[in-house]
Amino acid sequence: MILLYILLILGLTKGFDFGLATSATQVEGGWLEDNKAMTVWDNLGHTLGYVRDHTNADIADDSYHRYHEDFAIMKEYGIKHYRLSIPWTRIIPRAVAGSPVNYKAVEYYRRLLKTMKEQGLVPYVNIFHNDLPAILVINGTGLSDPEFPDHFAYYANVCFENFGDLVPYWFTFDEPWCQSVYDNLRVYDANTKPYIMGHNILLAHGKAVKIYREKYQSKYKGKIGLNLNIEMMWPFTDKNEDIEAARRGLIFQIDWFADPIFKGDYPSEMKSKLGGRLPRFTEEEKVMLKGSIDFFACNHYMSYLVQDGGHDENITYFDDVNTTIKYKEEWKRTDMGWPIVPEGMYYILRYIYEKWVKDHSMEIWITENGIAIHEPTLESAVNDKERINYMQTYLSYLDKARAEGIPVTKYFSWSLLDNFEWTSGLSKKFGLVRVDYERKEKRTPKSSLLWYSQLINH
Ligand code: BGC
Repeated sequence: MILLYILLILGLTKGFDFGLATSATQVEGGWLEDNKAMTVWDNLGHTLGYVRDHTNADIADDSYHRYHEDFAIMKEYGIKHYRLSIPWTRIIPRAVAGSPVNYKAVEYYRRLLKTMKEQGLVPYVNIFHNDLPAILVINGTGLSDPEFPDHFAYYANVCFENFGDLVPYWFTFDEPWCQSVYDNLRVYDANTKPYIMGHNILLAHGKAVKIYREKYQSKYKGKIGLNLNIEMMWPFTDKNEDIEAARRGLIFQIDWFADPIFKGDYPSEMKSKLGGRLPRFTEEEKVMLKGSIDFFACNHYMSYLVQDGGHDENITYFDDVNTTIKYKEEWKRTDMGWPIVPEGMYYILRYIYEKWVKDHSMEIWITENGIAIHEPTLESAVNDKERINYMQTYLSYLDKARAEGIPVTKYFSWSLLDNFEWTSGLSKKFGLVRVDYERKEKRTPKSSLLWYSQLINH
């Protein structure tokens, strides 16, 4: 079996880019330095009981001060592709369209990006990775504000203008589905708000891409897209209602965002189910959105079975999807409780290929995939065989997809470093490099980094 994986993966490495990913809030720290304003997560980290282990992202991995060290590790291990994010609240502290640019932060990120270039590291930059400026929620309604797309487009333009010469690959939003569904359930109007937020994210994405294409792309020759969550869902039984439920689950997660981007409008199933609760695009917006990505980037962690029903209150997004998630007993779970189902990677790639990519000449990139492991000691972290096994098996299914002609060309493991895992705080370890929070964020490469490096550089 192991030999099979090795053979498959050796085939994979030809003409293929491997990288590592992080995001600013999760690794940077320096939470109020150099004029940075607060994100919603800075605030949540200081709200008693919100983050389960009572940590926050004030310091996180201290990468704001130690990016040289992080880049040196990647250089030593032969990692050439690095996905990171730039925080809106550093670049434009007041966040709204027309407000002042913080040139201290612009200079900082130019230095950082130049250092990457000198070290031979290729940057893949997210303009937004779960770091909504708090001021947009204090003075407005954040992602559901009708002015949100314009604020974002203004910020995106500042990024393209100041960093465009140094960034070959841009992503507007990380995981619009998570943004729309998870950060939202606690607020009023839960039966319309996820769809309004999703709509605004799509419009913000479309506006930013339009600006990039019209003003910068021919000059800098970069590419732009966004990262969608993709989870595989199979019917729990072969009953028609479960088959239909799995189909609905996929549509409400993936097609919700992929259809507007490829076809200019929402899937008909969502339109008929939600009626007036799903916002409409104008003809002009449809044109703007259609074809607004240069590659299909997606984050994949898990797969599950889906049973029809279980929600009947008709209040939240989850009532609209109306499915119950089930796991097979034999599926092992990560420290997040997520099922490990490597073959799901193959089936979900097939889904997006058949539905959207086949008819467009477009690459598919896996921009996140990874595992949290319980690593209480340095020794357990350094001997992270489970992570190697996870990556090996997932990659073998990615290779199967490639062997069948599905054009996957990049894979990023989440994450370079252990980091701040949102509501789980610093307790969940996703890194290929251990970060010791008791010992001044000391970095120690794990076995998985060595394994990954050998895979990439064999
Ligand atoms: C997010 C990351 C997160 C990871 C693991 C992805 O959904 O983009 O920010 O740390 O999953 O939960």
